Amino acid sequence: MNFANRAAELSETIAAHRHYLHQHAELSFQEKETTAYLVEQLEGLGIPVKRFDDYTGCIATIKGGKPGKTVMLRADIDALPIQENSGVDFESIHPGVMHACGHDCHASMLLGAAQLLWECREELSGTVKLLFQAAEEVFVGSHYYWDKGHLSDVDAAMGMHVWPDLEMGDIAVMDGPLMASCDNFTITVHGVSAHGSQPNNGRDAIVAASAIIMNLQTIVSRVDDPLHALVVSIGTVKAGTQFNIITDTAVMGGTVRSHSPEARALVEPAMRQIVSATAQAFGCTAEVEYRYLEPPVINGDTALNELARQAGAKIFGREHVVSCARAMGSEDFSYLMEKIPSSLFIFMGCHDEETGCVHPAHNEQFCINEKILPLGAAQYAQFAADYLEQTAGGEGK
Ligand code: NI
Repeated sequence: MNFANRAAELSETIAAHRHYLHQHAELSFQEKETTAYLVEQLEGLGIPVKRFDDYTGCIATIKGGKPGKTVMLRADIDALPIQENSGVDFESIHPGVMHACGHDCHASMLLGAAQLLWECREELSGTVKLLFQAAEEVFVGSHYYWDKGHLSDVDAAMGMHVWPDLEMGDIAVMDGPLMASCDNFTITVHGVSAHGSQPNNGRDAIVAASAIIMNLQTIVSRVDDPLHALVVSIGTVKAGTQFNIITDTAVMGGTVRSHSPEARALVEPAMRQIVSATAQAFGCTAEVEYRYLEPPVINGDTALNELARQAGAKIFGREHVVSCARAMGSEDFSYLMEKIPSSLFIFMGCHDEETGCVHPAHNEQFCINEKILPLGAAQYAQFAADYLEQTAGGEGK
C-alpha cells in the first residue's frame, strides 16, 4: 500500500479543509465550529465519529476488513490569541485569534488521512483511531480522551507537528528525547515593609527575590548533570508599589523544561531548598508552588520509529527523512505517549524560502506552503497502514 499518489489527488480537498479551519480559528477549549466541521466532513465520508457533550475535539474510528491491533493518529486543532498578519486570503474571521502554530494543517492532514484510510479499509488489518484533539496550546487538552477511557484500546500512536526549523519536503523521526517537559512554578517572598530611606527597619523582599533569582541559576549549572538538557527560567517578577517603600512581598513566576525524567525530578527539591535558605539569609520567608504539567516527548520505541521512517521514505523520499535538532519546547501529546509506550512524535518541515514561509510558529506572519498538506496526510495514513500490516496476526488490546 502506498498513499503518495492518492494523497496528491486529494491536494485540493485537503487544502479546502485547511482554508475553512484557518478561517474559523478558535482558542483552546472553544473549538466548537472546528469540531462541527470535522464531524460533518468525517460523517460525510461515512466514518463513525465520537464527539463529546462536555468537550471539544472528536475521535473517528476506521475498522479494517481484517482483525488486528489499534493504532491512533493525533492532530491538535486549537489556535492562538494572536492578531493574524499572514497575508493569506483566507485569514481568520475571528479577531485576535489565529492558527499560528499550524494546527489547522494538522487537522486538515488528518482529515485527508481519514479519507485515504477509509477508501482502503477492507485491506487494513486492524483499527485506526483518529484523534482530533482540543486545547494543545494550554497543555492539558490531551488528558481528557485518555482519562475518560476513549483510548484505552490503543496499541500504538503517532503525532506530528509542522516544523519551521526544517525544510519543506523533509521529515524528521528522531530516536529518544525530542521535546521537553513543561512544569511551572510561583515563588512568593514575604518580608517586612519600611520607608525606603530606612531599609534597616524592614526586611526587603526585593533584595531576597533578587538573590533567589541568581541562586536558582545554580540548579542548571551545579545541580543538574551537564549532559542533561535543562532550563529553569523566571518569566515574571512582581514587587513593590512606590520608589520610597521597602516592599514586603515579591512574587515570581517561571517555567522548567527538561528532556529527561531524571533532570525533571531534581528541580523541585533543589528549588525549595534554595528558595527557603536564601529567603532566610535575608530575614524573609518564602513559599514555592510547583506545578507539574507535561512530561517530555521521548520517542522511546526505536522499532516504531524505524517503521515511521520507512513510511516517510515512501512518501517524502529516502533522502528527505532527516535528523533535526531536539527542541526545548513542549507538547501535550507527551501525556498520551506516557500512557501508550509504543508511540512517537514526528516533525514535518515547513520552512520554504521561495514562498516566504520563513516565520517561526506563534508569529503573526506564520504561514506554510500548502504543498506539504498531502505529504502530511499520506504520512499519517502510511504509518497507520504499515503498522497494522506489520503487526497483523498479533492480538490487539
Ligand atoms: Ni503547535
